[in-house]
Amino acid sequence: MVHLSVTPESSLADAPVWIVVAGLVPSQIVTLHASLTDEKGVRFEARAFYRANNAGEVDLKQAPALGGDYVGVWPMGLFSSLKPNKMHHRLMKRDVMGSPFHIQISLYDSYKVMPSSMDVPLKTCTVERWYVAPGVERFQIKTGRVRGALFVPPGPGPFPGVIDLFGGGGGLFEFRASLLASKGFVVLALAYFAYDDLPQTLTEVNLEYFEEASILLLKHPKVRGPGLGVIGLSKGAEIALAIATFLPQIMAAVCINGATCMNGASLRFGDLHIPALPYSPERIVITEMGTIASLHVWGDPQDESSQASAIPVEKALGPVLFVVGEDDKSLKSKLYAEAAIARAKKYGKNNCTLLSYPGAGHLIEPPGSPLCCISQMHQRPLQWGGKTELHAKAQEHSWKEIQKFFELHLGPPGNSNL
Ligand SMILES: *[C@@H]1O[C@H](CO)[C@@H](O)[C@H](O)[C@H]1NC(C)=O
Repeated sequence: MVHLSVTPESSLADAPVWIVVAGLVPSQIVTLHASLTDEKGVRFEARAFYRANNAGEVDLKQAPALGGDYVGVWPMGLFSSLKPNKMHHRLMKRDVMGSPFHIQISLYDSYKVMPSSMDVPLKTCTVERWYVAPGVERFQIKTGRVRGALFVPPGPGPFPGVIDLFGGGGGLFEFRASLLASKGFVVLALAYFAYDDLPQTLTEVNLEYFEEASILLLKHPKVRGPGLGVIGLSKGAEIALAIATFLPQIMAAVCINGATCMNGASLRFGDLHIPALPYSPERIVITEMGTIASLHVWGDPQDESSQASAIPVEKALGPVLFVVGEDDKSLKSKLYAEAAIARAKKYGKNNCTLLSYPGAGHLIEPPGSPLCCISQMHQRPLQWGGKTELHAKAQEHSWKEIQKFFELHLGPPGNSNL
């Protein structure tokens, strides 16, 4: 009797899952196939081929995949190498509260690259991958000028407070905020353009907006204070660095693959103005695949001309953690981070650190997001870079380090057992 066990059957999207097959014939070749359909109806699939051991078992903690979307021992390989059936589509959970992603794991005899409806699986089971833990509440924020979504863990708190910023596509993404809230932080996923009644484009970064958001979050009765953390990706990382530099409310910043000077949009805060380095859109490169590499569109941090636009990170009160992917095809994020760290050191600020990951691309997210190396932004297929396995390892490692960093500088989260 063939048995397929996938445990736990319901978990947070960043948690590991353990897959074991038993009851096979010794040396039998089998296919493990994963599939999920996202909220837009796009199907994602991954498969790997395994050989049963002498006991007729395949334990993904020990057995190497012989081929498929990955090879070798990789317990989470089926989840981390999911690929869309529609080109250049990014897997992203939009409705974090209402439902999990359902991932169907099927076991087939022999190797099946593309199982059809004629192929009957030996076993199938479905796992739930949640982006929010039980008891975490979501509040839509439309207060003063501030627009976003606030995630509050269960219990009396107080909890450390964190502002979460996404990048240059605008809008509001909540999946990282809801996952972080599931670890015991109060997290404000903060929109800053192209959302609700905010401006459609980002022409200037006005820090008064982020100051208003920080004051609002600090006033929340479940936020511990006296200061906040901020986490940002891409354009959100640039802004995270800017607000950590100029807002006394920000005590710790995590900047993932962002510029460290004002790029494209200038900064304003009262009388303070930092001019933007202009974009050079004529430097985009269109690849053999028809995709767009924007690496050279942004200013070069090593260029003398970028100095006037550099964020004076030495003024930041709190520590800064830079997380960079060395295969980032969107931005020279490692050079930017190194330039900022060198600048900080020059002025005697020594609490900026760099976590640099070989083979990781631009979109470093919590574990559970499969690599997306190309996706559509502003109707163009943009390259983000990354190698599937190295990128996944970077996500796993950096996500733990980010939580440790916030815990160290903001105090313990509410309930680390959640
Ligand atoms: C970080 O460095 C700055 C500048 O040296 C210093 O004022 C601040 O106290 C440091 N913060 C922490 C948390 O170590």
